[in-house]
Order: sequence, then C-alpha cells, then structure tokens
Amino acid sequence: MQIAATVDVARSALRDRPSVALVPTMGALHEGHLSLLRSARQLAEYVVVSIFVNPTQFGPGEDFARYPRPVDDDLRMCREAGADMVFQPTAEAIYPPQELDVTVDVPSLTTILEGEHRPGHFIGVCRVVAKLLHIIRPTVACFGMKDYQQLRVVEAMCEGLSMDVRIERCPTVREPDGLAMSSRNIYLDADQRRHALGLSKALREAQELVEQGESSPARVESAMRQVMAAHHVEVDYAVVRNARALGPLDIVNPAVEPAVCLVAGRLGSVRLIDNIVLAA
Ligand code: PAJ
Repeated sequence: MQIAATVDVARSALRDRPSVALVPTMGALHEGHLSLLRSARQLAEYVVVSIFVNPTQFGPGEDFARYPRPVDDDLRMCREAGADMVFQPTAEAIYPPQELDVTVDVPSLTTILEGEHRPGHFIGVCRVVAKLLHIIRPTVACFGMKDYQQLRVVEAMCEGLSMDVRIERCPTVREPDGLAMSSRNIYLDADQRRHALGLSKALREAQELVEQGESSPARVESAMRQVMAAHHVEVDYAVVRNARALGPLDIVNPAVEPAVCLVAGRLGSVRLIDNIVLAA
C-alpha cells in the first residue's frame, strides 16, 4: 500500500490507471468507513483512501483541534481492508499559503439544516471534495448515506459542474443497537451513549408511522421530536423532507415523492446526526 503525502506523489502513482475508486475520509476510521472501502474494491481496479481533517469545514468553536487522529491505526485498517493508496496530505499540500480562496457552493442545499447550524460547513466540504476529485481523478467516489445532506451536496456539485465521476451511495453502518457509527461517538460518556439511541429510535418511529399510512409531515416530525426528547437529546432539527432537494413536503407519500427523515441533536457538547430514506 502506497502512502502519498503530496499532490505530485499521488498524481504520478495514479497516472494511466484505467479505473480508480476514491473514499474520502477524515480518518478515525471505523466499520462505516471500511464498508465504503469494500464497496470501492468492487467498483475499481485501484482504491485510494484519502485521510485529511479538513480545516475549512470546521467552524470556530467546533472540534477541529480535538478531532481524533489515530494515524497508525488508520493506516493499518486501510492496509488490512485492501486499499492500494492512502492519500494523507498536510494542510499546506491541500491549501498552499499562496493560494487564493476558491468557493464552490450549492446554495439551496448548503444553507439549510446542517448548513444553518454549521454556517460555512458545506462550503468547506465542497472545496475539499472538489480538490480531492481533481487531484485523484477517480472513476467513482464512495460516500456514506450516514451524511445524507453531504451526499446530496456532493452529488449536486458533481452534476452541476458536469464532473466526470460517479458518486456511489453506501448504506449507513450501525452498531447492533441501532446507533449510526461515527468518529464522534467516542466523545459520548456512558449515559450519553444510552441516550444517543434517541436519534435512530426517532427515525424508526417515523418510518413505522409512514408505513402505517401517516402522511402529515407535522405529525411525523412531532413524533420524532418526542422520541428524541424522551432520550434527553437536545433537538436541533427533526424533519421529513424531499429526498432530492431537501425541501419541505406537503404530504408524506414516498411512493409518489421520495422522502428522507433527518435528525440532529446534542448530548452535552456532542452533536450527532442521522437519517433514514423512506422506502416506497
Ligand atoms: P468522515 O466523517 O470521515 O466520513 C467519511 C465518509 O464515511 C463519508 O462519506 C461518510 O458519510 C461515511 N461514513 C461515516 N460514518 C458512516 C457510517 N456509519 N456508515 C456509512 N458511512 C459512513 O464526511 C467526511 O468525513 C468529510 O466531510 C469528507 C467527505 C471526507 C470531506 O472532508
């Protein structure tokens, strides 16, 4: 497995590769990331995992400085899961000091939900993902459904800029009790870990309600809020939206209009998100 720390080294190792899959990550790898890597293995001859804690997607007061960086474990996991290259650039390699700021944005998707609670977050995500796609030039890039809004932003960016890459959607990997795996779960203490189940339980409740015929967005949303509140989760949002534009729905009817439930909440200083796409 090759480890590339600079753009030039990565590019020269990738020259003339017929098919490349990219798995962009910020490290602190877990089973969710590894499932993306396994999908990538099926989709291309050469698999690159990027590990870069991207400073431009963290707001002031967010956890950039304390974001976990278990570098040796991450490299071992990539090697064991069959990555061909880890692209692990320094901040200077991605953002050379002399480079002027560049903005890529999908405003209708980046200013709502997570974008409202984390202003600028998705602009940072778009910038780094656009850069990674231009550096690695993959045939396919794998993203997790766990971060559904991010996935939609990336899909829309690639579509809107006619980028020649396929975006592969990979299902959310959960702990046995339902909690979506996240690099941030390690911040949870024992009580918070129990209460964190409020997010996935709220989504399951919403799914069951809709399966039983509930079609009022307000009632689905209020049911999700109640489950989260019962688990002591401070709710940032609990909504059911159009699965593509993420705009509000008049009626929940996945057979007619694809829908997604999205929740975000805080347990102490730990902020978690989750979602479920409602099946037709
Ligand atoms: P990170 O949080 O490390 O996640 C990297 C990828 O793993 C994302 O596509 C995310 O959706 C996916 N992922 C995380 N947890 C998952 C789970 N439980 N099941 C399935 N997939 C999961 O997302 C980022 O990094 C960054 O914003 C990045 C795209 C790398 C840009 O910096």
